[in-house]
Amino acid sequence: MNIVILAAGMGKRMRSDLPKVLHPLAGKPLLAHVLDTARKLKPGRLIVVDGHGGELVRKKLADAGQADDLIFVRQAPQLGTGHAVQQTVAYLDESQPTLVLYGDVPLTTEITLQRLVEAAAQNSLAILTVNLNDPTGYGRIVRNAANGIERIVEQKDATANERAIHEVNTGILIAPTVALKRWLNNLSNNNAQGEYYLTDIVAQSVSDGVPVTSAQPDHEWETLGVNSQSQLAQLERQHQLTQAEALLEAGVTLADPARIDIRGTLNCGRDVSIDVGCVFEGKVTIADQVRIGPHCVLRNVKVGTGTIIEAFSHLDDATVGADNRIGPYARLRPGAVLAEGVHIGNFVEVKNSQIAAQSKANHLSYIGDTTMGARVNVGAGTITCNYDGVNKHRTVIEDDVFIGSDTQLVAPVTVKRGATLGAGTTLTQDAPQDQLTISRAKQLSLPNWKRPIKK
Ligand code: UD1
Ligand code: CA
Repeated sequence: MNIVILAAGMGKRMRSDLPKVLHPLAGKPLLAHVLDTARKLKPGRLIVVDGHGGELVRKKLADAGQADDLIFVRQAPQLGTGHAVQQTVAYLDESQPTLVLYGDVPLTTEITLQRLVEAAAQNSLAILTVNLNDPTGYGRIVRNAANGIERIVEQKDATANERAIHEVNTGILIAPTVALKRWLNNLSNNNAQGEYYLTDIVAQSVSDGVPVTSAQPDHEWETLGVNSQSQLAQLERQHQLTQAEALLEAGVTLADPARIDIRGTLNCGRDVSIDVGCVFEGKVTIADQVRIGPHCVLRNVKVGTGTIIEAFSHLDDATVGADNRIGPYARLRPGAVLAEGVHIGNFVEVKNSQIAAQSKANHLSYIGDTTMGARVNVGAGTITCNYDGVNKHRTVIEDDVFIGSDTQLVAPVTVKRGATLGAGTTLTQDAPQDQLTISRAKQLSLPNWKRPIKK
């Protein structure tokens, strides 16, 4: 099939310089949601009609690697939804039907669109409609005595009787393409808004004897569009709730399904529990029996079985092994790779470092560009000085090392297996195996010293 996505509208009510369809929902542009759903239907042609901010729309999709299968068509000026589809006729494969979607309606499901495709199977025109308690602003579906669809009338052109109709046009429809092209040719802008209405193809279809059918979505929110920041925020919450419900359904324990945000994909094993206020971004994979405390941020992270992540931890592009204890207030930055049984405590930052099994850094440390062995104990306040102002250097800490508190390791430097570093050491040369290495001024006390007295 051909899929045409209308995305030329200005979105004035967003009060933003960003084109409306690029505003993110769950971390992804509205238009990208529509494209992802459209691609599930395996369209032969996928066409985006852009207009306001069209250059930026094209650039953002290309930068995200999302434009290769798209045909972009510019609509300028924007003279209505019918005019928008008119711009695409040269690209429509006549042997396939054409599905019209809106770039600012992000949450329509594949199931609903399949249902619409089925409703159009006998070469009919099929419209996705919904019954709204408050239909104000929408085009109304006008049916005849036999309940057949006759036409669509826009709010501004409707009589009082027509405005009393609660069944509305969602704007999503599928049409046989040869007939669609003919109908588009006959549109006029002789209406209250002086626009070429796509909806006027319905009456033409009826007079051509092409049947008009309809399908309905499972949820009203699937058909809601974004015209304002308020509507965007409402759809964001709806989408997050849908995702949270899917997690609950899959057996994940959520302290509060209304207080979790997933901006990407979150895969959880069995008996995972997630406390309130956590944000998951990119691709996050969590193994069985993991517990995540309140207000953690996990972006592109893998977490192994049985690990506990305590409150306020921030994990970015990191791999956490099984049975770790992370946080509270831990920060794992890109390239942090932790094996089993590792403890990373409060105010400890780990970047581009591998930490082997059972090693611990429990308090106030920076571990950067480090290869750390197993069973290492890193004392409070230990810092790897990995940066000389120009280049980054590696620190190697072998198995069974004990590092006293407030130690600086000036990289490049190696601490050999079993070495002990005395508290306060500034290590500038390699520390030998199994010995105590210490750099510290000798302690001194002055027995006759007197405190100065205030004059
Ligand atoms: C349209 C429908 C209305 C339906 C409503 C659902 C028409 C005439 N009316 O109304 O029956 O109930 O959607 O929300 O079709 N767009 C363009 N180019 C244009 C005009 C619009 O690309 O020249 C795009 C917009 O960016 C938007 C979509 O088409 O994504 C709908 O436009 P909008 O102005 O919101 O349609 P309505 O007039 O509200
Ligand atoms: Ca709209």
